[in-house]
Amino acid sequence: MASERVITVLGIETSCDETAAAVVRSNGDVLSDVIESQVAAHAPYGGIVPELASRDHLRNVRPVIEAALERAGVGLSNIDGIAVTARPGLAGALHVGAQAALGLAFARDLPIVGVDHLVGHLCAAFLQYPGQPIEPPKLPFLALLVSGGHTALYRVDALKPGGIRELGATRDDAAGEAYDKVGKLLGLGYPGGPVIDKLAHEGDKARFELPRPMSRRDSLEFSFSGLKTNVARYVEQHGRPTTREQLCDLCAAFQERVVTTLVRKSVAALVREQLDTWVIGGGVAANKGLRTQAAAAAAERGARLVVPIPRACTDNAAMIAFSGALRLLSGENHGLTLAVSPHTELPQTTRKGRGARPQGSPG
Ligand code: KG4
Ligand code: ZN
Repeated sequence: MASERVITVLGIETSCDETAAAVVRSNGDVLSDVIESQVAAHAPYGGIVPELASRDHLRNVRPVIEAALERAGVGLSNIDGIAVTARPGLAGALHVGAQAALGLAFARDLPIVGVDHLVGHLCAAFLQYPGQPIEPPKLPFLALLVSGGHTALYRVDALKPGGIRELGATRDDAAGEAYDKVGKLLGLGYPGGPVIDKLAHEGDKARFELPRPMSRRDSLEFSFSGLKTNVARYVEQHGRPTTREQLCDLCAAFQERVVTTLVRKSVAALVREQLDTWVIGGGVAANKGLRTQAAAAAAERGARLVVPIPRACTDNAAMIAFSGALRLLSGENHGLTLAVSPHTELPQTTRKGRGARPQGSPG
C-alpha cells in the first residue's frame, strides 16, 4: 500500500474459536487462507469454552500453518515476516498462536509483530482473493465493526491503532452476541447468526413487536441486551415458536431491529464525520440482510460501501497477515517482547453498562 516494497507475510490467528493461518502479500494478495473451525467442539455447550479452545488450538495450530504454506506454494524461506493476533481474545487461546509464531520467528530469524484482532477485521476490506478482486477503500473512512465480541463505529484515518478513533460502541452485548443468545433461546444451536439470517429471509418482520435498540438519533452508541431480553420474555410467556412460519417471523423481526439500528447509526456517523467511504467488518458483516440494507443506504447517500467477501468477514488469518504486513513495512518488530492481552489496544470511549452517560443520555 503505502510502500512500494511488497513483502510476503505468514499470519496466525487463534484468539477465539478458529485456528487459522494464511499467507498474504502486502499488496493484499491472498496466497492461502486456511481456517479450522472449532464450532463443532463448542456447539454442545451453546457457546465457547475457553479451555476447550486452547486445547483445540494446540492440536491444530501446526497442521494449519503447514497447510497455509503448502497451499500458498511457499516455504518459510519465502516468508519475510510473521504476524500473529496478540489481542483482544481468550488469553490461553492467544498464547497458543503467539508461542507458535514466536517459535517460528526465532528459529528462522524472522521479524514478528503482534496484531490487534479488531484492526485485523478492518483490514479485511483490503484483501484480494483470487478471482474476487475488490477496489480497496480510500482513507479516511467510517468503519462499522460488528463481531461476536465487539460492536463499534470508528473513524479510520490510518490503519494502525493511533489512527483509529471510536465514535460509539455497544454499552452491553455485541451484535453477534445478541444473535448467538437469541439463537440459543430459540434452540437454533451455536452460533446463532448464520441460521437466524437464513430463517429471517423467509419470515415477515412485521408480525412481532420488538423494541428498537438505542433509537435516539444523536447517539452513536448501541445496546442490544434489551432486544434479547424481549425475545427471552416472549419465549418465557409463549414457549418457543411451534411452527416454522412463526420461527421465521420472529427471526425476521429480530434481524430487522438489529440491521436497521446498525445501518441508521452508520449513516449518522458518515454525516457527522463528513465521510463518504464506509467499511463493514466482523462476523455479522456476513449477514445478508445487513449487506443488502447497507448497500441501499450507501447508494442513497452516494457513499462508497466496502464489505469483504463473507469468508473474510468472520475470523481468519488473512486479515491478520495484511494488518501485520503494514506494521512490518513500517519497521516494527516485536521479537521476544511480543505479549498477548485480552484487551484491544484501540481507545475505547463508550462506557459499558448502565449509569451516568457521557454527553447527556443517549437513548
Ligand atoms: O468476527 P467473528 O468471526 O468472531 C469474533 O471476533 O467475534 O464473529 C462471529 C460472530 C458470531 O456471533 C456469529 O453468530 C456472527 O458473527 N455471524 C453472523 C453471521 N455470520 C456470523 N451474524 C449474523 N448473520 C450472519 N450471517
Ligand atoms: Zn473476530
